[in-house]
Parts: sequence; structure tokens; C-alpha cells
Amino acid sequence: MSAIEVSGLKKKYGSLQAVDGISFSVKKGEVFSLLGPNGAGKTTTIEILEGLRDKDEGTASVLGLDPWKSGYDLHKQIGVIPQGFKFLDYPTPKEAVNYYATLFGTKVDADQMLKRVILDEAKNIWFQNLSGGQKQKLGMALSLVNDPQVVFLDEPTTGLDPQARRAVWEVIRKLKAEGRTVMLTTHYLEEAEVLADRVAIMNHGKIVAMGTTDEIESKYGSGQRMVVKAKDDLLRYLKENTKLEVDGDGSTVTVFLRDKNDAMVALGAIEESGAGWDDLTVRKDRLEDVFLRLVGETGDEEAGAR
Ligand SMILES: Nc1ncnc2c1ncn2[C@@H]1O[C@H](COP(=O)(O)OP(=O)(O)O)[C@@H](O)[C@H]1O
Ligand SMILES: [Mg+2]
Repeated sequence: MSAIEVSGLKKKYGSLQAVDGISFSVKKGEVFSLLGPNGAGKTTTIEILEGLRDKDEGTASVLGLDPWKSGYDLHKQIGVIPQGFKFLDYPTPKEAVNYYATLFGTKVDADQMLKRVILDEAKNIWFQNLSGGQKQKLGMALSLVNDPQVVFLDEPTTGLDPQARRAVWEVIRKLKAEGRTVMLTTHYLEEAEVLADRVAIMNHGKIVAMGTTDEIESKYGSGQRMVVKAKDDLLRYLKENTKLEVDGDGSTVTVFLRDKNDAMVALGAIEESGAGWDDLTVRKDRLEDVFLRLVGETGDEEAGAR
């Protein structure tokens, strides 16, 4: 049985179609990532699944329940960390976990819980003095207090430094190892690539590609590309003297290879051009290349940052 089923889901804010008819399902025990730039509709989608927002059209079910109608039953079985998780300034992580356990009417071993999210070293420090990564890990500990089957993480690593990001990844891997279903939104490609079993790339409310990283790369990738460090004079030479499909950004020139012959033609032309070049590599399209093609440069510095 699927943990999450979504079909034809739509949500409008005024005249803005924030979620525009998306469908996907997430299997039990899977890490599924909604990957997309700011404004793509990720948070809206995840909040509908958490029962925090009503949908306009379509169907959504989590663990067989309608999140909007059966929120009370559902909240006992899911863990939620909202985007930009914050807490009161003065409780320590240990106090916060005990407080949450009381709210849920469950008993937890707070020390053990904080060990699970690799936060035991900071368990007695006030929330306001925790680092960004430690705050996120506390969010995870709190979301686990009710032993949830499904955990929703909305941009859990946005704004964290690379080391803190990796620490959060380690906790997400543990959640998967424990058999939990994880729905993760992120605008970091690398995060989806490293953690997710399957990825849905979302843009302007629509899913533009979905599958495993390998599936997306082979379905939407253009195949092999030759990348060479060279200035635009080489780009111009290749455009004027060959029929190759080329692109450049001032410091690298990319030749999209349709077949093996293209590679031979490209090598010959690069040699004949007399242009300076260095560092020639041939590689397959990666998720990043597909993402940029499908979503485009967003103009937002952070979106798609690695
Ligand atoms: N409560 C709201 N009222 C009006 N517009 C909203 C509201 N929440 C989000 N939006 C808009 O809907 C779009 C999708 O937002 P969101 O779901 O937060 O995307 P993401 O999480 O991918 O950044 C954005 O253009 C955003 O500005
Ligand atoms: Mg968001």
C-alpha cells in the first residue's frame, strides 16, 4: 500500500495557481523528494498533505486518510517539521522533547531521542543558543515523539552550512533505515540526489519530471556532452565551421554529442580552431543539467545552489 497518494491536486491563492494538477504516490518506507525553486508550490503541497490547508480540486490521502477531514487521526501518525522551524527561546532540547511528549500523551526517553538525532551533546543548551543545524535536529526529535510512520520535512537544510547539512542528512538516512516514509522538499539538487529514492521536479505548480535520479537523467537528459575549458572564440569557431550543437558561458564550451561521429568532428574542429583550450571531459547529463533545462535559471541565488 502507498503511504501517500495524490491525484489531480490543485490549489489557488486568488488568481495564482500555486499547485496546478499534480499526481504522485509515495510507497511506504520510501524517501520521496519534491525538488523545485522557490515558489514552485512545494510547501503548499506538503501543507495540504499535513492537513494544514484545504485543497481546491483533486484527491490526497496519507496513510489512507483524507488529511483535511481526518486531521485528528492523521496527526497521531505523522511527524511534521514546518519550513523555517522555530521554537521558544529558553527551553533546552531535553525540556522541549519532554514537553512535546506530554502534549502527545506519550512517554519518551528524551536522552535516547536526542541521541537518535545526534543532538545529545547539546541537550541542555537553551534553544536560542543552538546552531542552525542543531535547531533543525531538535525539530526532527520533536517530530519523532509520536513515533510517526510518515515524516514531512519542508526544506530542512535551507540556510545551513555544508557540515550542518550533512548532519541533517545523516538523521534523514536513519529515519529511512527505521522504515519510516519521508517526504522531503528541497531546492538543493544535491540533497534530492543523495537522499531520495524518487524525485519529483516541481515548477510553477506542476511536476515536470519524476522518477529515480537515473530515470530522470536518462529520460530527460540529452545524452553525452563534451565539456572543454575554453573562451568564446572556440564557441564562435565551432558555430561557424561545424554543424555541432554547442553552448558556452565564456569559460567553458559544451558540445552536445548526438553520436560518436560528433565527438570526432568536435575534436578535429577544436584542434583546427587554434583556440586555447584545457580540461576536456565527456560526460552524461546529470540531474543538475536536467533541472536547469526543465526549470531554467531561476534568478534566485540559492535555488539550485550546490
Ligand atoms: N497564503 C498564501 N497566500 C497567497 N499566496 C501564497 C500563499 N502561500 C504561498 N503563496 C504563493 O504560492 C506560490 C507557491 O508557494 P509555496 O507553496 O510556498 O512554494 P515553495 O514552497 O515551492 O517555495 C508562491 O508564488 C507563493 O508566493
Ligand atoms: Mg516552501
